[in-house]
Amino acid sequence: MPNIDPKKLPQHVAVIMDGNGRWAKMRGMHRVRGHEKGAEVVREIVRTSREIGISWLTLYAFSEENWKRPKTEVTALMKLLKRFLKDELKEMQENGIRLNAIGRIDKLPEDTRSTLFEIIEKTASNKDMVLTLALSYGGRQEIIDAIRKIAIKIEKHSMAPFDITEELVSAFLYTADMPDPDLLIRTSGEYRISNFLLWQVAYTEIYVTTALWPDFGRDEYLAAIQDFQKRERRFGATNSRE
Ligand code: IPE
Ligand code: IPE
Ligand code: MG
Repeated sequence: MPNIDPKKLPQHVAVIMDGNGRWAKMRGMHRVRGHEKGAEVVREIVRTSREIGISWLTLYAFSEENWKRPKTEVTALMKLLKRFLKDELKEMQENGIRLNAIGRIDKLPEDTRSTLFEIIEKTASNKDMVLTLALSYGGRQEIIDAIRKIAIKIEKHSMAPFDITEELVSAFLYTADMPDPDLLIRTSGEYRISNFLLWQVAYTEIYVTTALWPDFGRDEYLAAIQDFQKRERRFGATNSRE
């Protein structure tokens, strides 16, 4: 792989895929066309991730707040998701990709949800990469759900307040079995987190590109990985020996 150091790969890459609507608008097309083109880019990024050896790829596909969009757009996104999952199954099986989902999945329409669960089940034993889709996902909602579960345990006396540690909170999040992201990419030039993985990005390296998601691709993605490989991660400590 050109200019990618296999020893310094991010273990977990998370992506805020933004800019589909603007991409379509610039071309005088309906926003949904932008989402369709965006789905093709998802395919390319999943493929490239697997090829370079990324172990965890997490994509922000639909936020808790995205339910506020017009019903026609939400319906189109849910249909697109279902079609994407069906189309990708073969390639996921061939490439050892396990599908995972985080978010309030119970809010998805029944047909999309059942397809999602079907693909999660069929790919469950794949071991080479985990593709996690954040769907109806909100970082604050995730933290609220964790607090509720912890509070119930305390109420039942199966846990005490001082048992609450960073590790314990992490274990109650949707991402319990996942490492924190090393690299977070956001497309479309917005410098914000938009309620994505709030707890988990505490020490994540952030890469923002002005490319709109439908224009993002393999080369841009590799550039983000190369940029990550130049970063010095300190986690609050110092690398100085003085
Ligand atoms: C990202 O593109 C896709 C989703 C949020 C589902 P947008 O739809 O947010 O596109 P812009 O930001 O309006 O251009
Ligand atoms: C973030 O993009 C959500 C996803 C990429 C799914 P948004 O377009 O919803 O975020 P804001 O509104 O620009 O913050
Ligand atoms: Mg947006």
